[in-house]
Amino acid sequence: MLELRSLARHFGGVRAVDGLNLTVQDGQIFGLIGPNGSGKSTTVNVIAGLLPPTAGTILFRGEDIGPLPTHRRLRAGIARTFQNIRLFGQLSVWQNLWVAQNSAEDLARRGFFTRWLGGQSGVRDEIARLLEFSGLAHKQNELAANLAFGEQRRLELARALAARPKLLLLDEPAAGMNSEEVGQLRERILSLRGSGVTILLVEHVMELVMGVTDRIAVLNFGQKIAEGTPAEIQAHPAVRKAYLGGEAA
Ligand SMILES: Nc1ncnc2c1ncn2[C@@H]1O[C@H](COP(=O)(O)OP(=O)(O)OP(=O)(O)O)[C@@H](O)[C@H]1O
Ligand SMILES: [Mg+2]
Repeated sequence: MLELRSLARHFGGVRAVDGLNLTVQDGQIFGLIGPNGSGKSTTVNVIAGLLPPTAGTILFRGEDIGPLPTHRRLRAGIARTFQNIRLFGQLSVWQNLWVAQNSAEDLARRGFFTRWLGGQSGVRDEIARLLEFSGLAHKQNELAANLAFGEQRRLELARALAARPKLLLLDEPAAGMNSEEVGQLRERILSLRGSGVTILLVEHVMELVMGVTDRIAVLNFGQKIAEGTPAEIQAHPAVRKAYLGGEAA
């Protein structure tokens, strides 16, 4: 599904991502962890096309997507959520999901005006399913800006899914959540397993990462220092060292 080959992204002298090799298989839930500043978000941004790489190759379903801009990657099937939530605050919950479904490809295929009216039952059904999935059905007419923090995170996940991604990049979806919300997120992510979406999960909340992933890679100073199953990673000496030595507070 996704293969990074010798991927690098430097900011001046900072080697945020430094020669990263990573393979995510179809259908996997793959964890990417590491101390603050280890290059996790930069990796996500480079995969999503928000930042050009300094060097290296990104293969998505066997194709080099390096030259594709963000919207083409979205259309090809790569959607993401942000570490800092980004929604259309002045649109309703329902509208945020509707907008996300309107990739250029869909507009051409389904006819813009049908979609604009929201009249096509397939579209409405799909949004209704996503609202149900996120527990936001009762908030569908609320402005996104007025949602509570946890609800905004749920909407962001639903919006990414509305684009019907093949690869979903989640950058710290549990940040700022209480343990009940983390439990719900865990169930949601697990329920996506087998639905045809592959997930790259960046996360500090170990309870979540260890509970949902098939495999985990650990970054430190932009380099992969370990990779394995959750059990292997938990027992890995280099991982303990990186976290104990590198994590502030
Ligand atoms: N746009 C940028 N300009 C300059 N430096 C940047 C930029 N983005 C990231 N960096 C630097 O690159 C390094 C990696 O940052 P990145 O945000 O990828 O880390 P992270 O692993 O996501 O950390 P966190 O867990 O805190 O979110 C850091 O040293 C950071 O300061
Ligand atoms: Mg980050």
